[in-house]
Amino acid sequence: MSLNRPHSDIENGGVAPVRAIRGAFLDFVADPFFTHEADAVRYHQDGLLVINETGHIQAFGDYATIADRYGDIPTQLYRDRLIMPGFIDTHIHFPQIGMMAAYGEQLLEWLNKYTFPTERKFQDPDYARDMADKFLDELLRNGTTTALVFAAVFPQSVDAFFEAAQARNLRMIAGKVMMDRHAPDYLRDTAESAYTETKALIEKWHKKERLLYAVTPRFAVTSSPAQLQKAGQLLTEYPDVYLHTHLSENINEVAFVQDLFPECDGYLDTYDQAGLVKDKSIFAHGVQLTDQEFQRLSAAGAAIAFCPTSNLFLGSGLFKIEQAKARENPVKLGLGTDVGAGTSFSILQTANEAYKVAQLRQQKLSPFKALFLATLGGARALSLDHQLGSFDPGKEADFIVLHPQATPLMALRNPEPTAKTVAALADLTFSLVIMGDDRTVEATYIMGEKSWG
Ligand code: GUN
Ligand code: ZN
Repeated sequence: MSLNRPHSDIENGGVAPVRAIRGAFLDFVADPFFTHEADAVRYHQDGLLVINETGHIQAFGDYATIADRYGDIPTQLYRDRLIMPGFIDTHIHFPQIGMMAAYGEQLLEWLNKYTFPTERKFQDPDYARDMADKFLDELLRNGTTTALVFAAVFPQSVDAFFEAAQARNLRMIAGKVMMDRHAPDYLRDTAESAYTETKALIEKWHKKERLLYAVTPRFAVTSSPAQLQKAGQLLTEYPDVYLHTHLSENINEVAFVQDLFPECDGYLDTYDQAGLVKDKSIFAHGVQLTDQEFQRLSAAGAAIAFCPTSNLFLGSGLFKIEQAKARENPVKLGLGTDVGAGTSFSILQTANEAYKVAQLRQQKLSPFKALFLATLGGARALSLDHQLGSFDPGKEADFIVLHPQATPLMALRNPEPTAKTVAALADLTFSLVIMGDDRTVEATYIMGEKSWG
């Protein structure tokens, strides 16, 4: 490194940066739902990303502008590729990796018939460890570098997941499912045991290296009011842990919750009365939300994980993206695969289905909006945008290398793999959203180290 350091550098005890990546880079500096798209997107057709010794971004910019300062650093060149921040999956179930494509049911029947028997297997720590490895390999293969993850009800399933994530140096958020009713005996905890076990897991894992904990009541159907209160007590005792649950996914579920909580003013209120609606609360689905509930989520700074492949697969409905991203009462929004109700680990495929959900509601989801949700939007939904989601110096260098000509058909669609204008970039990225999947992800880097590819 030369003495002439750009002001954007992050001080790192005087340690020189050790490596750089050169190629075409795309990330976001603002939300394209609220800022003119051309101003929200940042594109360097020939860019340089400098990574320091701790795996954080040291500098980022146009190659021609910053190369004189960093030109002597070992540099990996990616020609005809598109480099983006790693994808963020804001809702996924690790124990459901083996049960995708379970036929013919909607939510409540699907849970009883397929999901609960599957999750039972995670009582066995060896099995859970094996599945955790497979699950994380699958995320990385698909370019997902951070996820908000449901484990199973068994604390050992959380240990298995976090141990595997720690071994890969991943930034992951997860938690033990809390469920004390309307589930088979073999999966039920109690309000008290869920509290005690969750507390021990928070103490053990929260903020351990890159790992973070989410208090995880499954949903209002399977948690008694007493258990939701215990979840709220944990959030009070540990104000910086997350809350992760399901909300208003399916109409029969919403009706069931009304019956179970006659004293509450709707589904969200079952969580609100327990102190669970906060700015680090992430609610999966929200397909059936009322206007008033959208407003409450907005006011609380809470987030929704939009899971289109799951919503279509289970026939849950069409999420109102435009309502979540309205200028009045906007709600933080990320994309979730919701595997195993979701039908793909790929956030590109998830964005593809999000586009179609928008189409069915006479709305447009542009490729930049979709890719914002997949990266910086997801990071904001998880309150991690100070650490992840873009190439700003100081952030953690989790990024992916996309191949616009990964298949013969994509090569036909994209004869020019590197965009020279923002309009060409919009067209290229739309093809990635609609046609892309795991094959499109050539490499996945974690803290500046290649972890897959
Ligand atoms: N609601 C409660 N549990 C689940 C689950 O495992 N998957 C989905 N999609 N919805 C749920
Ligand atoms: Zn889910």
